Amino acid sequence: MNIASVEDIDVRGKRVLLRCDLNVPLKDGVITDDGRIRASLPTIKYLIAQGARVVITAHLGRPKGERKPELSLAPVAERLSELLEIKVAFSSEIVGAGAAVAALGAGDLLLLENIRYEAAETSKDETERAVLAKELASYADVFISDGFGAVHRKHASVYDVAKLLPHAAGYLVAAEIEVLKKLTQNPERPYGVVLGGAKVSDKIGVISNLLDQVNLLAIGGGMLFTFLAAQGKEIGKSLVETESIPTVLELLDRAEKLGVQILLPTDIVVAPEFSAGATPTTVSADAIPSDQMGLDIGPETAAAFAAAIEGCKTVFWNGPMGVFEFPNFANGTKVVAAALTKVSGISVVGGGDSAAAVRKLGFADSEFGYISTGGGASLEYLEGKELPGITALS
Ligand code: 3PG
Repeated sequence: MNIASVEDIDVRGKRVLLRCDLNVPLKDGVITDDGRIRASLPTIKYLIAQGARVVITAHLGRPKGERKPELSLAPVAERLSELLEIKVAFSSEIVGAGAAVAALGAGDLLLLENIRYEAAETSKDETERAVLAKELASYADVFISDGFGAVHRKHASVYDVAKLLPHAAGYLVAAEIEVLKKLTQNPERPYGVVLGGAKVSDKIGVISNLLDQVNLLAIGGGMLFTFLAAQGKEIGKSLVETESIPTVLELLDRAEKLGVQILLPTDIVVAPEFSAGATPTTVSADAIPSDQMGLDIGPETAAAFAAAIEGCKTVFWNGPMGVFEFPNFANGTKVVAAALTKVSGISVVGGGDSAAAVRKLGFADSEFGYISTGGGASLEYLEGKELPGITALS
């Protein structure tokens, strides 16, 4: 797949529409992790240096075509201004932002309000999306796609607009694809993948595809209980997706035939309820009491996962091992994160949530081989799916 880079296209003095993924976590209007904003800076700085007039379009959350004030990108414009130390203009209009665009001088930036306030952005109807894409395209001479976290979405600002303007990938999209290629084209072995998070149904596609490629797969997070249930174990009040049990059994069977080592927890940290203050107890994975729920992998499991990870030359990790937001149930995620920092080959933390988790737990980005900004996007890539936002650039 041949994709032009931002440096291959003439942007000097041009109006550039730049798609970023600025979907950052917010609490009471305050950005709690600005990783995705920082990851967007290299391309923005390059465009400024080229004297481009830059119109940034991005989404926040899933407002589904409604103007939800708590999902406004206004705080992101402020943070961007702080990081770049220049004024970033903000337009609360998306359709109808023509005058604000026309006012841009060389090297100026304008951030448009949450593109998902427009129902057409995410519409399944191509004609509806085309109308919005046309409006966005009217603001620019060139389209640069740098919102890696959204490239798996067939959305107007990600996919359709690329058909209407000369286009190229920004530095972030190029870097993400480069890393994902390393994971899929002749990865150095042993290759281990660690998956966590709540729902096994979200990960079945990726597990199925990875079984043909990896040497070991470690399973933690809420999804592990469906695996334990599939093995006939008592899981108490833990999360479970009963309808996924037959598929999980098939995956375990295939893993055995392929010689892929599957690591499942041997001990679990349980509590009577889902709360930060709940009393944690460590029990064997074979003996979860019926009135308790599993909220983290146990210390023995965490140590076994860590040893396996450290022995790998290529590691991809997506999804926390437990409820890391509660300090009593953060140990598994912490131990796994620490193990990734010790990998001598390439270690990749996949996804906005996992990236925010490692930063919240006190790790620096530089301790890992690579921190991907796209959870869904990187998983879909590893699943072997086509990413519309990437196809549109080729
Ligand atoms: C993400 O948070 O993974 C990206 O910003 C994409 O968001 P979405 O899952 O709402 O499309």
